[in-house]
Amino acid sequence: MTTQELRQLLSELSLEEKIGQLVQMPAYFQSGGHITGPAGEMGITNDDLRLAGSYLSIVGAADVEKLQREYMANHPHHIPLIFMADIINGYRTVFPIPLAQGCTFQPELAEEGARIAAKEAAASGVHVTFSPMADLVRDARWGRVMESTGEDKYLNGLMAAAMVRGYQGADLKEKGRIAACLKHFAGYGAPEGGRDYNTVELSPRTLREDYLPAYQAAIDAGCEMVMTSFNTLDRVPSTANRWLMRDILRGEMGFDSVLISDWGAVMELIPHGVAADFAQAAELAIRAGVDMDMSSPCYTHELKRLVEEGKVPEALIDESCWRVLALKNRLGLFENPFRDLSRDDEAALLLCAEHRAAAQRCAENSFVLLKNDDQALPLASDAKVAFIGPYVDSHLTSGAWSIFCDDTDAITLRTALRQRGVPDERFAVGCPIVAPGETILGFQKDYPLPEIDAEQALADAVALAKSSDQVVLALGEHREHTGESASRGQIALPDCQLRLLDAVAEVNPNITVVLYCGRPMDLRALQDKAKAILVVWMPGTEGGPAIARTLYGDCAPSGRLSMAFPWCVAQLPMHYDQLSTGRPYHGDHRAIRISSKYLDMPNRPLYPFGFGLTYTTFAYSGVALSADKLTRGGEITASVRVTNTGDRPGTETVQLYLRDLVGSVARPVRELKGFRRVTLRPGESADVAFAITEEQLRFYDINMDFVSEPGGFEVFIGPDSASENKATFRLV
Ligand code: BGC
Repeated sequence: MTTQELRQLLSELSLEEKIGQLVQMPAYFQSGGHITGPAGEMGITNDDLRLAGSYLSIVGAADVEKLQREYMANHPHHIPLIFMADIINGYRTVFPIPLAQGCTFQPELAEEGARIAAKEAAASGVHVTFSPMADLVRDARWGRVMESTGEDKYLNGLMAAAMVRGYQGADLKEKGRIAACLKHFAGYGAPEGGRDYNTVELSPRTLREDYLPAYQAAIDAGCEMVMTSFNTLDRVPSTANRWLMRDILRGEMGFDSVLISDWGAVMELIPHGVAADFAQAAELAIRAGVDMDMSSPCYTHELKRLVEEGKVPEALIDESCWRVLALKNRLGLFENPFRDLSRDDEAALLLCAEHRAAAQRCAENSFVLLKNDDQALPLASDAKVAFIGPYVDSHLTSGAWSIFCDDTDAITLRTALRQRGVPDERFAVGCPIVAPGETILGFQKDYPLPEIDAEQALADAVALAKSSDQVVLALGEHREHTGESASRGQIALPDCQLRLLDAVAEVNPNITVVLYCGRPMDLRALQDKAKAILVVWMPGTEGGPAIARTLYGDCAPSGRLSMAFPWCVAQLPMHYDQLSTGRPYHGDHRAIRISSKYLDMPNRPLYPFGFGLTYTTFAYSGVALSADKLTRGGEITASVRVTNTGDRPGTETVQLYLRDLVGSVARPVRELKGFRRVTLRPGESADVAFAITEEQLRFYDINMDFVSEPGGFEVFIGPDSASENKATFRLV
């Protein structure tokens, strides 16, 4: 449609029809035309469904086609529905969770994953995905860290932008493209105490300097939608926050498309205590600039009356309705309301070999080797290895948001190893993922308790370990222990798994732990008992083959932590780019009383941001600078020579961090500003150079201006955020 035709359409809609475009209903509101469950409780009627312009979570070419056809036939202006869903790390072919994708330090892999997810989802009728989540995360207790790409704003920005490009491509109308909805605006990743949905307290400077940049990167990449967050900022819930949405998001950050509330967030303004009833909630949200109300009765029941009573100007409804219609138009829905949905394409594309291969590639690149004493890995092909643990043959490896996949499509480690010829008798389950009796209340579904004779399983595992040269223990947290509303106060492995580890360690010291998790965990109980620790996160459909290949050295781990593993939960929240204090703590000896430290635990994490080993080793030269003075408009080059000092080829992620030594406000002890991956043969060296410009040195100064300040800077180039390999220069 031309803009003029679209304007004409808008002018022909009744107030009620315009409001309908602002309403999104979840799948279960639509069940054969009957209102069920929560919809009924909220007072949603069939009439509301008749005009609601969007559905959430209805997927599948056949269902979407039927619903679209019926809806359009009944709609007074035959406006098509827009279908949205959470396609977070893949649709049917599941990729590693976003936190793991962050560990690849390869935005191109995230882009490829998003492109494939879009292609599969589009064939099933999806038009918009609620991804990427660009929330900065600093607290591993928060279950949703799995959905973020980590603790660094620069890396998160690169990843979020890459995902937007992957979903949307250059032209939204192109086949296999879907619109991206950036979330959760803003600051959702900083709930107090790591408890989901909790209050967020961020200074305006921290919000702008640390939290907004990754959202900005996604907006600059052209993301079509933004979702509000559940939290408050400065005590105002985002969904009612006019300053945040109108002044910051639209005014300063330049976003001009559709803003949707999170699930039920408009009606949740009532329990937040800023609205007395649905009507006030609707008024606050629409005035804040929230175009669409996801899964709440507020807009559909209250907006009309609010306009008629003169409490809400109709112009606000027109403004929001226009944005929704314009998005439908950019997606080409007026020309073809069925777009890419196709049962044939579903059959051909979902889980096809090309998509599986990409998922496997992404998984292999996301694994992080934390420890590898005595070169426990890779496994020798002739070694007698026992594969023990509840994850050895588990299909629950796809991450909490993998809601449209069939778990059994995931290839388990056991299946992959069997295909390599590892005999049946080399496997044992050892224990369940969680103790029998512990109930897992899934967010999307529930999990039956495992039927296991715990004592027998443990005894079998110990006997197998005893008769083996090496043991690979596949351990981890339950995938439903991460994700939405899955915050935890304890982030260690479940007791039953630690018991298995202890029992195995008593009979065989050659232990490699393969760790499945959706968050950084407390690994103190493993640290001394395992010779090697390989973090595989929730690796998705092709996790099994990717892990098997990595264990046997067909490929080498090259992932780097996108979020530090803390020493223990009491350190949280933590992040490497912290501010210095007036009494910084530099050493390990506790004799210095007056410094910023704990008496009973270290300041440093167990494994820092950016850390990861591989099957070879690298040496770094000192940092060489092309000049020791940087001028505005100028550039200096910082470089190192990196040498592969081991006897296998390998890939190193060389990281650049900068520190501003004196600022008008306190500055982080270092910040990631660049990275390069280099692959080197044994003995081979490469010079890795980074350009440094004045723009990289800008921050919000004492006056809240985004500027750089002259003075001294440190340049760190090394393998992780703890490297002390540095040089200094001055900005003049
Ligand atoms: C989550 C969002 C998600 C939405 C729709 C909410 O509970 O916070 O991230 O996109 O549900 O499923």
